[in-house]
Amino acid sequence: MAETFDVIVIGAGPGGYVCAIRAAQLGFKVACVEKRATLGGTCLNVGCIPSKALLQSSENFEEAKHSFKDHGIEIEGIKLDLARMQARKGEVVGANTKGIEFLFKKNKVTWVKGAAKFTGANAIEVEGKAYTAKHIVIATGSDSVPLKGVEVDEKHVVTSTGALELDKVPDHMVVIGGGVIGLELGSVWRRLGAEVTVVEFLDKIIPTMDGEISKSFQQILTKQGFKFKLGHKVTSAKLEGEAVKLTVEPAKGGDAETITSDVVLLAIGRYAYTEGLNLTAAGVETDERGRVKIDNHFQTNVPGVYAIGDVVAGAMLAHKAEEEGVALAEILSGQAGHVNYGAIPSVVYTWPEVASVGQTEEEVKAAGVAYKVGKFPFMANGRARAMGCTDGFVKLISEKETDKLLGAHIIGPDAGALIAECVTAIEFGASAEDVARTCHAHPTLSEAVKEAALAVDSRPIHV
Ligand code: FAD
Ligand code: NAI
Repeated sequence: MAETFDVIVIGAGPGGYVCAIRAAQLGFKVACVEKRATLGGTCLNVGCIPSKALLQSSENFEEAKHSFKDHGIEIEGIKLDLARMQARKGEVVGANTKGIEFLFKKNKVTWVKGAAKFTGANAIEVEGKAYTAKHIVIATGSDSVPLKGVEVDEKHVVTSTGALELDKVPDHMVVIGGGVIGLELGSVWRRLGAEVTVVEFLDKIIPTMDGEISKSFQQILTKQGFKFKLGHKVTSAKLEGEAVKLTVEPAKGGDAETITSDVVLLAIGRYAYTEGLNLTAAGVETDERGRVKIDNHFQTNVPGVYAIGDVVAGAMLAHKAEEEGVALAEILSGQAGHVNYGAIPSVVYTWPEVASVGQTEEEVKAAGVAYKVGKFPFMANGRARAMGCTDGFVKLISEKETDKLLGAHIIGPDAGALIAECVTAIEFGASAEDVARTCHAHPTLSEAVKEAALAVDSRPIHV
């Protein structure tokens, strides 16, 4: 006999576990199937959380080594204890994944351990046991995109998962892909002492970012010691002893060169993960990129089967997956769940951080909308000066006719926290003038956002 639930969620990442908890809050009998030994998915186990733990530790190390002196703090003999740093990362991850286990118990969500596979439209099997549900949610996430000629062994040639586990600082790390993973994890290992070279296929880093911000970001990272080979691709990686020899070619054709490194990080994107799910048994369709196809209520082509998070189209971000999880659970209970895809922030947790929401200047231009831009540099912000973090600026874009805020882009200290105000403004349909007329505490970094809003109307005070 199959065990029956109202809702079965497959995958306990930020999409799946949040959907399961919200559905349970709404009175459904819920199970969440997870094949990993711990809950939390990519994000908590091998993504957002361990990377941020290492980013924080490596930032502390670099500050202690290079910035404390400026503040009049002299410390002799600063040393790296990488084993302790990695152990701390493990503790942070463990506390977070255990936290989800606690939340499942609190909300009476049953964790079914093992890999789920469909046996029919409303039926799955996990480790030989049958389960059925009125609603089945696919939240199986994503995995790293492989590259032909570059074989991953997670030791010399690593994905983000291996790059989070290195037990020695590489002398030279080559990062394939100048995207978010490459620049965040490249920052970790550069701060700890590695020379880092980024090979990026296109002619700019984080190609989806506002062009002006991307350019400034590259300049700042170059100043920090990053080396960039833009417009280049890696065609092969060969392990010779402990060294990896990479063949690198100009993307548009030309002479190949060889680069030697001791660790290569392959970070050229992630693909929707549905392996082993046996989607054909349920009749669920995927698109040309293997992503599960859904309508605007997250339903697949099969009634009663839904999908959310990295496994569907859209930004591969934890908070986007979470929003979808909540919206879907509310739709299933008869409420009007909704996600505003125009107000999903994205943040790169380097130093300085880079954060954005809404449209880039390039997108606004391409849409043929008349617009205004206001910018304000952190160099002119008192708090940023006090912190000694004056790199970067805030850039706001508003519609010329109505002054409605269309996009916000920040490169600078704590940009990830600062963007929240802009997300709220966009969510509420605010104008730049609304932000400009809002009182911001002094001295805070947030005053740079207010000043950029004033600059949209050419009336900033401090520049
Ligand atoms: P996932 O988190 O991938 O979870 C899917 C789960 O499903 C997995 O645990 C998997 O084991 C399980 N599963 C798969 N198939 C089955 C099956 N058949 N049966 C049972 N279980 C199954 N995003 C941010 O917003 N901020 C960040 O700072 C950030 N940092 C990142 C850093 C790195 C290094 C990486 C790799 C990603 C990062 N991301 C970040 C992206 C973020 O991790 C993903 O967007 C997010 O995890 C997607 O959530 P999800 O629930 O869709 O899928
Ligand atoms: P990405 O899509 O951010 O960047 C991949 C980069 O690789 C692109 O710039 C692309 O042009 C380049 N590229 C593609 N093929 C190439 C090739 N053959 N040679 C050289 N360059 C090539 O992907 P990434 O960094 O792997 O991250 C995957 C996803 O994980 C991100 O898109 C993001 O959604 C998520 N993530 C989010 C984080 C955050 O929110 N802070 C942190 C880390 C990951």
